[in-house]
Formats: sequence, structure tokens, C-alpha cells
Amino acid sequence: MISLLHYASKYKKQLILGPFFKLLEAILELFLPFYMAKLIDQGISQQDTQYTIKMGIYMLLMSVIGLVCVMICQYYASIASQGFGTELRNAVMKKINQFSHHELDIFGSSTLITRSTSDINQLQLALAMLIRLVIRAPFLSIGSIMMAFYIDAKMGLIFLLTIPIFSIILFFIMKKTVPLYKKVQQKIDYLNATISENLSGVRVIRAFAKKEKEIDEFGEVSDDLATAYKNVTNLSALLSPSTILIMNLAIVSILYFGGINVNLGHLQSGQILALINYMTQMLLALVVVSNLVVIFTRAFASADRVNEILETTPTIETSQKATIYTPWKNNQLVSFNNVSFRYTEKSGDVLKHLNFTLAKNETLGIIGPTGSGKSTLIQLIPYFYAPTKGTLLVNGQDITTYETGSLRDHIAIVPQKSSLFSGTIRSNLLIGNPNATDADCLEALEMAQCSDFVDSLPKKLDAEVLAQGQNFSGGQKQRLSIARALIKKPDLLIMDDCLSALDYQTDLLIRKALKENFKETTVIIISQRVSSVKDATALLVLDEGQQVGFGSHESLLKESPIYQQIVHSQAEKEVF
Ligand SMILES: Nc1ncnc2c1ncn2[C@@H]1O[C@H](COP(=O)(O)OP(=O)(O)OP(=O)(O)O)[C@@H](O)[C@H]1O
Ligand SMILES: [Mg+2]
Repeated sequence: MISLLHYASKYKKQLILGPFFKLLEAILELFLPFYMAKLIDQGISQQDTQYTIKMGIYMLLMSVIGLVCVMICQYYASIASQGFGTELRNAVMKKINQFSHHELDIFGSSTLITRSTSDINQLQLALAMLIRLVIRAPFLSIGSIMMAFYIDAKMGLIFLLTIPIFSIILFFIMKKTVPLYKKVQQKIDYLNATISENLSGVRVIRAFAKKEKEIDEFGEVSDDLATAYKNVTNLSALLSPSTILIMNLAIVSILYFGGINVNLGHLQSGQILALINYMTQMLLALVVVSNLVVIFTRAFASADRVNEILETTPTIETSQKATIYTPWKNNQLVSFNNVSFRYTEKSGDVLKHLNFTLAKNETLGIIGPTGSGKSTLIQLIPYFYAPTKGTLLVNGQDITTYETGSLRDHIAIVPQKSSLFSGTIRSNLLIGNPNATDADCLEALEMAQCSDFVDSLPKKLDAEVLAQGQNFSGGQKQRLSIARALIKKPDLLIMDDCLSALDYQTDLLIRKALKENFKETTVIIISQRVSSVKDATALLVLDEGQQVGFGSHESLLKESPIYQQIVHSQAEKEVF
């Protein structure tokens, strides 16, 4: 938590002046009962109207100044806490953007969302409380005791006796509630994860008629959180009645002993009223202290979770000495040298000892059963993941030495699962190339066989795209993702199984357009269809992460039994 405070460093002025004004208000509040005692004992009791009015005006003035101080403090607290939250949120988002796919896999998106929203809100609240109450509450408690001693030392002892009783009760309640609050935070995380999974998979859930089941499951998670909250608030709720009980007992003692002292002439009735006021002030301030402990406990838990993001070093980081990628330096564009890869240390190798080279302007087809590691392989080339063993060269140089941005600028990927962003068709294409003109957009759409359906839309390039491209069909989304990659005019174009979702005719037309217009581009095509890859310069056959064949269609037909099997099974299907 302390380490996060430097995100509030821009707000030093507010951090100092806020508590200062609050302290001023607390001092004024502390003197109010004192003046009230004077008003009663020297004004009202002795029927001195002038003195009564004078004291009344003093009290009014003190209240008004106090109010202004509180307002200034609240204002500063808002500015500092909101500013701190914004700075912290920006830093967290910046860090998340630096994460490689490995860290994104480890954290998962739902906890990243909770941490950058509700956890940061918790920290914001803690900072606002720090400014508003951290000085005021202890000051008022101690100040009340001192004022009580000033009025009468013996009566002050009642105050001193009250504190240990209150502290014991507070200690037992806090001991139980603090760990429970931490649990609540974890349960909120789990609830968020359930909500986000449910919402993103809502269509699938409905298709499988699993709505009731999901609602029941969500109900369970939600009930679990409610129970945890109930337990913790039930315990916390004990604090308020216990404080009032202690307060009333203390007031009874003040009235009893104070009454005796008034009769003996040692004290005046106004002073008794002031003592009662100080007692109330002290205990209420102590309740605030206990609430602060809860807020800070939760904030400490949140700070740990936010810090975990900020302190994670991305596995893939651009070093100071990184090389900027230069296009067309080497004839061998991609070269795998004994590359193995595993997603986590504990899991097994997903790719095993891959050895192959792809020269520039060539086309490589990758084929293999589902789960054989095809998508994993292509994610290594733009350095989304670091190879576990072996070296991977792009353009003659180890990928780990590149400045990642410059390497990725020259590679375009059409992902297996097409993802579009909310905006327009144009804004989606501009992600591929921000400088593209309308003519470039239309050319890319033409090559990706999208012209027909984009032309039929009333707003054409400005047609709206909803989040995740919900208002387009699966094939249309695929083709728009292809257009987004083509508009980049990359050195290396990677298409991850995006053609097999299209009909044979469109698949053929797109490959033809590529051949004609992208002569200077090296292409990697992953496909389940032999027909989509058989014309490639070379074919890589993968099976369970192993390279079980590499060569042209003809040579593999002779040498690779697995390739023969794939070709055979597809030939059979096409007959029927
Ligand atoms: N992010 C990930 N974390 C952990 N394991 C993963 C991850 N992505 C894929 N895997 C595992 O790696 C293996 C290879 O997956 P990959 O997606 O590369 O297969 P694929 O050949 O592309 O399959 P498909 O043809 O179905 O697309 C699978 O066993 C899969 O479970
Ligand atoms: Mg795949």
C-alpha cells in the first residue's frame, strides 16, 4: 500500500492541506463543549445576557468556520483520491498491455478486471479516508480526554477507564472480522469471474439449454458472497450497540459522580454537560477509528492484488539493446532450430524439437490433427511466447533480440477465432494499417472477397460493427479479419485456419488474390483442408507437437504415412 502512494505524489498539496483543514475543524469542535459550559455556568446561571450572547456568537462562528474547513478538506480529498485512482488505473492498464500472452494466461481476464476496477476503488476510498479521518479521529479522542482532565482530573479518570473496555471489545470484533473481509474480497473476484464467463458464453449456454443450470450456479456463487457479507456485517454490527452501551454507562457514571461533585460545589452543571459531550465525541471518534481499520484492512488486501500486477515482470521484454527489425535482410525469413515449447513449467511440451526453414516469398502450409500445436507454433513467430528450448530466427536474427513492436509491425496474423472490435468497418481495417486510404480499404476488401457484402450495406465502409462483430456472420467476420491483415501489407502473413470456415469457391478466390497481389509476401497457411495447402512451396505436418513431415505435397504423399492418411480421409469425404 505504501509503495502505491507514489501514484498520489502529484497531489502533495491536497494530501497536506486536506488533513490540515480537518485538524482545524477538529480543534474547533473540541472547544465547542468548553464554550458551552461557560455559556451555561457564567451566562445562563448568572443571568448575564450579554455574556450568553457573546458565547453564543463564538460558538456559531466556530461552527461556521468548522463547516468551511470540512468542505475544503472534502474537496481536497476528492481531488487527491480520484486523481490517485486514475494514475494507478493508468499504470495498471499500461502494465497489462506490456504483458506477454504468458502473463495474460496466468492472471486471466476476470481478475484483471476486478483488480483494475473494484480493488482500485477500494484504494481510492482508503486514501480519501486517510485525508479526512486519519488525523481527526485520534486527535478528537485524545483531545476529548485532555479536555476532560482540564475540566476535572477525577472525572477524567472515567474517560481513561472507558478506553480499555472499548479497546477489548474492538479487538475481539476486529480479530474475527478482518480475515472475513479478506475472504469477501476473494468471493467478489470469483463472482466477477462467473459473471464475465456467463456473459461471454451466453449464446452457447442458451444453445445447450443450460440457462437454468447457469442461473442456479450463479445463484450459489452469489449466495455464498451474501453469506460471507452477512457474517462479517453481523459481527461488525455488534460494535455500534456495544459502543452505545459503554457510552451510556460512562454518561451514567459522569452524572452520578458529577452530581455528587456539583452538590459539593466542586463542579458546575455546565461542566457536567461538557463532560458528557466529550465522552460522546471520544467514543464516536473511536468508532470511526475502528471503521478506518476495516477500510484499511480491505485496502491492504486490494493493494497486494494491484501490486501483484505492477510487480510482475513480463517474460517478454524489449531490452535496451534490442534491434529494430529490418525487412528483407535475409533470404531465410523464418527458421526453427530445434524449438520446443510448453505453456507452463509443469505442463508437458506442446511443441517438440521443430526444425524447418521458410525462405522469403515462399508459402508454408501447416496441417495436422486438432490440438497438434499448429496455433501454438505460429504464436511463437511474432514472439507472443518465448520458445522454451532452441532458437527461432526471423530474418536471420533471434526473435528474442528484436524490439517486439518493430517485429510485429511486419507480421500480420488472421487468428483462428476472428475478433472484430466495436466501431465501423473502416475503423477495424485501420487497426491493420492506420495510414490506409479508402482506396486501400476497398482493395483489401476486394482481395478478401468482402466487397459484395460490404457494398450491400447502406453505409459501406462506415457500416457499424458491434462488439466482437456480433452483427456479422461467422464467414463475414473471417473475411473482414483477412482484409484487416492484408491491408497491413506485411512481410509475413499468417492465416490460422481461417480459410476452412469459408466455402471452397471463396477459399480458392482468396488464395488466387494472394498469389497475384502478394508476390513479395511470405505466407503461412494453417488449414484442415488439404486442398487449401497442397499448392504451398512446403508443407509441415504436425502430430502431437512433433514435426512428422516436411516437404512438398508430392514428396509427403510418398514419404509421410500421416499425410497420406489425411489426404486419403479427405478424398473419401469429397467423393460423398
Ligand atoms: N493458452 C494455453 N495455455 C495452456 N495450454 C494451451 C494453451 N493454448 C493451447 N494449449 C494446449 O496446447 C495444445 C496445442 O494447442 P493448439 O491450439 O496449438 O492446437 P491446434 O493444432 O491449433 O488445434 P486446432 O486445430 O484445434 O486449432 C493443446 O493441447 C492445448 O490444450
Ligand atoms: Mg488452432
